Amino acid sequence: MPKGKIEIKIFERTVMIQLIRGFKDILPGETECWQHIEKQAIALFEAFGFKEIRIPVLERTELFARSIGENTDIVEKEMYTFADRDGGLITLRPEATATIVRAYIQHKLYAADPVQKFFTIGPMFRRERPQKGRYRQFYQINAEVFGIASALIDAELIFMLDALLKRLDVADVLPHINSLGCPACRPIFRNALSAFLDGLAPRLCEDCQRRRDRNPLRVLDCKATGCREALAGAPAIGDHLCADCRSDFDLVQRCLGDLGVDFVVDSRLVRGLDYYVRTTFEIQTGALGAQSAVAGGGRYDGLVQALGGPAMPATGFAIGFDRLAEIVGKNRAHWALAPELYLAAMGDAARSLAFQWHCALGLAGMRVDMDMDSHSLKAMLKRADRLQARHVVIIGDNEMAAGKALVRDMRTKNQETIPIEGIIDRLLAIARSQLQPQPQPQP
Ligand code: HAM
Repeated sequence: MPKGKIEIKIFERTVMIQLIRGFKDILPGETECWQHIEKQAIALFEAFGFKEIRIPVLERTELFARSIGENTDIVEKEMYTFADRDGGLITLRPEATATIVRAYIQHKLYAADPVQKFFTIGPMFRRERPQKGRYRQFYQINAEVFGIASALIDAELIFMLDALLKRLDVADVLPHINSLGCPACRPIFRNALSAFLDGLAPRLCEDCQRRRDRNPLRVLDCKATGCREALAGAPAIGDHLCADCRSDFDLVQRCLGDLGVDFVVDSRLVRGLDYYVRTTFEIQTGALGAQSAVAGGGRYDGLVQALGGPAMPATGFAIGFDRLAEIVGKNRAHWALAPELYLAAMGDAARSLAFQWHCALGLAGMRVDMDMDSHSLKAMLKRADRLQARHVVIIGDNEMAAGKALVRDMRTKNQETIPIEGIIDRLLAIARSQLQPQPQPQP
């Protein structure tokens, strides 16, 4: 090797690097469906006064441990937790509620007006066993409300969720609602449940044996057949609610009835996070197999204060974006947006001219594509067809010499010749005319 030269071998051999298990790519063709959902959700949330908040994906581990609860599956075994370089423990967020509460307290967002409505959309991370509808990185659409004690807001959230799903043509969904009581009445129920579970211990699954002491309510929503059978005569929280929780839950149900929202009261719905009180809910669907919850939420009145803020009622929900997209995606065969126009140019001079049109049309908002390499006309038309372009403009040396270009309608296969002069306006007019409703034949 000549002196002064360093040889760097970057790769000894090529390796195919694959996705991490439980993570996934959302590809074009799917992203259009995600954008559609996002647009509908944002429009609806904004109409109801929600404002977007953007929050970090990393937080101090303590934030999640203290809010979600030390004895939950999420905190016990599902968090991605790392030691930072300074030794502190940090965690990739498994949910967004705790972070939004942290931001609400840290920026004193309650100072000007305690009532705040936020939404946020983004990735969450839980190291669960991956399966259809369950990922280690998944996305949520969150809505959170602070400062409203009335159960009207719980009804509003469930109504909004129901309306969004209807707008997205999602059938086969049903809100399940329950009240988990409050610090006054829940301990009484917990004791009654613990006494009942004591008699069942040998019939419960391994997980429930563990949960029985630490988090007995979680036993109620165990999916194992043995546990389900054993719990047939379990006490129901609805029979243990205090007068305030009872009337609060009655109001939610009355409002949903008045609004025409179908729902079921599900006394087994306990949710997997410890911060909930009173009304909790899940939107369940038969369309997703085992992972039947497409959204979940509820009231968490004590959390703001527990994390160092003022006493503040709060409630919210999160939609499982991946699960919703899976259902909505099936509503249409194709989500990818086809180009309105494809430019097929032959020869360098025509290609340079077509490139100018391509840029001008794109700037004017038309979905336009072109062949930038020199392929045959046949190959270009084949690609335009594959992309499902509505029109193709064909231009070569002959057309340029005649000052004209050919426009082919790919559906009807009709072709017309148009002058090159003023072509941009003419092409925009053609694209616009495709958007106009066509005159219907008179009967
Ligand atoms: P969560 O029930 O844990 O609640 O999650 C909400 C939704 O996220 C679920 O109903 C499900 O659709 C989706 N989801 C959860 N885990 C996964 C996963 N591994 N893969 C795919 N989707 C998943 C919460 O996170 C609460 N922070 C909701 C909330 C907001 N409560 C009050 N405010």
